[in-house]
Amino acid sequence: MLTGLGSCLPLGVVSNAELALTVDTSDEWVRTRTGISARRHVSESVDVMDLATAAGRNALIAAELASVDALVLATSTPRRPCPAGAPEIASRLGLGPIPAFDVMAMCSGFLYALSTAAGLISAGVAQSVLVVAAETYSRILNPDDRATAVIFGDGAGAAVLRRGEPDEPGALLAMDLGSDGSRSDLIHVPGSGGEGPYLVMEGRKVYRQAIEKISASSMRVIKDCGWATEDVDLLVPHQANARIVQAVAQRLGIAEERTVCAIAEVGNTAAASIPLALSTAMGSGALAPGHRTVLTAFGGGLTWGSAALIWPRVRSVHSEL
Ligand code: UT7
Repeated sequence: MLTGLGSCLPLGVVSNAELALTVDTSDEWVRTRTGISARRHVSESVDVMDLATAAGRNALIAAELASVDALVLATSTPRRPCPAGAPEIASRLGLGPIPAFDVMAMCSGFLYALSTAAGLISAGVAQSVLVVAAETYSRILNPDDRATAVIFGDGAGAAVLRRGEPDEPGALLAMDLGSDGSRSDLIHVPGSGGEGPYLVMEGRKVYRQAIEKISASSMRVIKDCGWATEDVDLLVPHQANARIVQAVAQRLGIAEERTVCAIAEVGNTAAASIPLALSTAMGSGALAPGHRTVLTAFGGGLTWGSAALIWPRVRSVHSEL
């Protein structure tokens, strides 16, 4: 069951107006087409491991735990291709020689990591797992590509899962994961050659796929729980574009007031987007203990995933770097 949330954002705020000084875009276009007003970018001295470590530490503080039995890091913007970042985070947090590894499912990474953590607990490998999702897309954005430069931002979120009773609030009641590798080119980073390497995205096609896959995956977990869409108190979708969030809510028949849209100040933070949206929703009071909650994400791969849970009485701790 989920027992604590943490998050960390870089201090550097980049507004649409600032971006428009170097990218061929406008504040009006970005706000109306994506719902984004600003995003965070790391400074030169901060990297994805720093954000991940801070978010992980915050989640441990929130869960009032000094140690866990395993650590899973979700990132698609690692500091280096190998080794995995998770062992270094475990070491920086003083967690000892615990199992620690990365999962890469782009924007669906948090849900993939969460289900991996739940699997480690069910298999008896761990009693508690720290799940961290951290991204620094600013490091792989082509500054001349207005379609990606305006959307993505940096950030990290984390959650602690621990063994609990299946009927306790915070237990993962249903999970759904999927992929379609035949469309892997829709969002990818070319292997080599040219400048960068930078992220490349076919925005329109991704947009359509995101709405379709997120809606279907959400429906699967809602049904698996024996709920109807009217029973969902809060839908927490991946924050890729406010228009995608609205379209998914409309397709599922879930009112906008019961759907989290927390993209305006942070943009699309890929794997970190769901834990960051959860922290924002807890802060505003939109997410409260007892709420029947559905988390759902879509990303490159293509990958998608959803989870349903009754929101537990947990704390969320945030910091900036
Ligand atoms: O995180 C998971 C994966 N990512 C996503 O889910 C993102 C999904 N895609 C999107 O959010 C949207 O497709 C974008 C925000 C990337 C683009 O918005 P759109 O409404 O789909 O625009 P479009 O690509 O259809 O382009 C419409 C017009 C084009 O101009 P013309 O050809 O009609 O003259 C683009 O060149 O808007 C232009 N355009 C822009 N104009 C100003 C595209 N990006 C920009 C921009 N500023 N940043």
